[in-house]
Amino acid sequence: MAQVKVGLQGVAVAESQICSIDGEQGRLRYRGYDIHDLAAHSTFEEVVYLLWEGRLPKRHEMDVLREDLSQNRAVAAPILDVIRRHPPAQHPMEMLRTLVSALSLYDAESEDMSTEANRRKAMRLTAQMPTLVAAMGRMSRGKDPVAPASRLSHAANFLYMLSGEEPRPEDARCFDVALILHADHSFNASTFAARVTASTLSDMHSAITSAVATLKGPLHGGANERVMRMLLEVGSVERAESYVRGTLDRKEKVMGFGHRVYHTEDPRATVLRKMSEEVGRRAGQPHWFEISRAIESLMRRETKLNANVDFYSASTYYALGIPVELYTPVFAVSRIAGWTAHVLEQYAANKLIRPLAEYTGPLEQSYISVEKR
Ligand code: COA
Repeated sequence: MAQVKVGLQGVAVAESQICSIDGEQGRLRYRGYDIHDLAAHSTFEEVVYLLWEGRLPKRHEMDVLREDLSQNRAVAAPILDVIRRHPPAQHPMEMLRTLVSALSLYDAESEDMSTEANRRKAMRLTAQMPTLVAAMGRMSRGKDPVAPASRLSHAANFLYMLSGEEPRPEDARCFDVALILHADHSFNASTFAARVTASTLSDMHSAITSAVATLKGPLHGGANERVMRMLLEVGSVERAESYVRGTLDRKEKVMGFGHRVYHTEDPRATVLRKMSEEVGRRAGQPHWFEISRAIESLMRRETKLNANVDFYSASTYYALGIPVELYTPVFAVSRIAGWTAHVLEQYAANKLIRPLAEYTGPLEQSYISVEKR
């Protein structure tokens, strides 16, 4: 009898050279580089190169990738028509899943499984994801999409396509760091889903569609949106205590706390805490950070639980002017880097992922005709 590990908890299902997590020490590294170092010194584009290629780019390699990403941001007009012509999505992730899948119909290499074509598709999907999310955000408010600006960085261009105005350089840099922090997290559920799909030698767009569909679930993406709705409901530092106590007394979870892997502070939360304070102050909205701080210290005192990546990303995104319902799609704008890196790694040494189930139903049943049942 095979041993069952429910939820694959604690099971290593493959070797990978992309991302390592030390849950005891609170360390996260991409290709051996500490997330704090990358957040302080790198850019999202550089991290994309690192995740795909396994090393930091030389200057000209960086220039080529930047150019490729900025020249491939536009999506075919019929893709935007999908948003226009269909009933409004009940949640933007419903639309994003559909759009990512539709992209393959307009990708001339969708069925080309050569390594070179798969790398180009990874690049195009990474370039196009912000365009989809910004267009969804604008069109759901009755506004026209804004065409991408190739002169802007990946992060600045997303904020520009969303608001129609070029962001302050400091805000663009904060969003850039947020993208770096969310770019990969080893075999999380959506990445694993992408790798399962890739392991059947299905195409890149199919694998990424699986990932987006998996990110949609409230146990995975989505917690940052709920954190912001909580902050809006709490509304003031004075109300934080009664909110937290009430939630815990009802045995409900306070969103943005706890983690399956980290038993100490999530290193991404450390960086985001500072950013939330900085962006909030600049936007003239310091109270979201102050309410967050109050909730965090109450949670530490009452439960010993630490804030996770979603807790301070909520107030950071809010102060950057990102609509709350777009927080999970924004996760995909960043995680596409990790998803595609993992799909490329899966293709490079593929083995079909096909686990067993321990059958616990009845055995040896005799067929009974429908008249006699
Ligand atoms: N608020 C209050 N209590 C929490 C909590 C939270 N955010 N997270 C965990 N706990 C409590 C649980 O109620 C449980 O208590 P019990 O042992 O008395 O039943 C204990 O801590 C263990 O939690 P559990 O949900 O079993 O751990 P897990 O490893 O399966 O789940 C999470 C990890 C992240 C899913 C969980 O902490 C959670 O739901 N957090 C809120 C959602 C969130 O922020 N998700 C984003 C993750 S990056």
